[in-house]
Amino acid sequence: MNYILIGMMGSGKSTVGKLLAERLDLKFIDTDTMIEEMQGLVIARIFELYGETHFRNLESALVEKLSCIDNAVISTGGGLVMNPCNTILLKNMGKVIYLKGSISQLSKNLEGVTGNRPMLKGNSLDVLLTVRAPIYENTADVIVEIDDMTSSDVLSHILDEINK
Ligand code: S3P
Repeated sequence: MNYILIGMMGSGKSTVGKLLAERLDLKFIDTDTMIEEMQGLVIARIFELYGETHFRNLESALVEKLSCIDNAVISTGGGLVMNPCNTILLKNMGKVIYLKGSISQLSKNLEGVTGNRPMLKGNSLDVLLTVRAPIYENTADVIVEIDDMTSSDVLSHILDEINK
């Protein structure tokens, strides 16, 4: 079984994903980190040199590549679900968990860590969330609220939900 974490930037997918993988003794995969390693460039530089469309193509190629793995927790980039082909593959790969945060919580979590997040240049978090929220909700098997929670609170909620 795989567990796939989706949600906005700042929702804690990578932090919680690592905790979940440790707890369930599964591999941890972070799509952004994999793309950075495969390209030898940080995300911000990929956007700068080749643009968003190229980054989205890299994301989709990676999802296809990952589609046959098992026993992993996969943390996904916040915009990955915007391509419906990716969401179909993700849903077939395992249980999809949406880490749902309010704008104020997400903004708070992103304070001081927006450097490698090129989507925040020229896009408001608010608009991104409004557009993406229905897609996150429709794709998810499980929705976990993150507002005012620590990472270990979020982990406990996920464990409760997946053990139901
Ligand atoms: C993006 C989110 C980022 C990263 C890229 C684009 C987005 O990942 O994939 O900067 O479109 O929301 P995180 O959600 O891990 O920050």
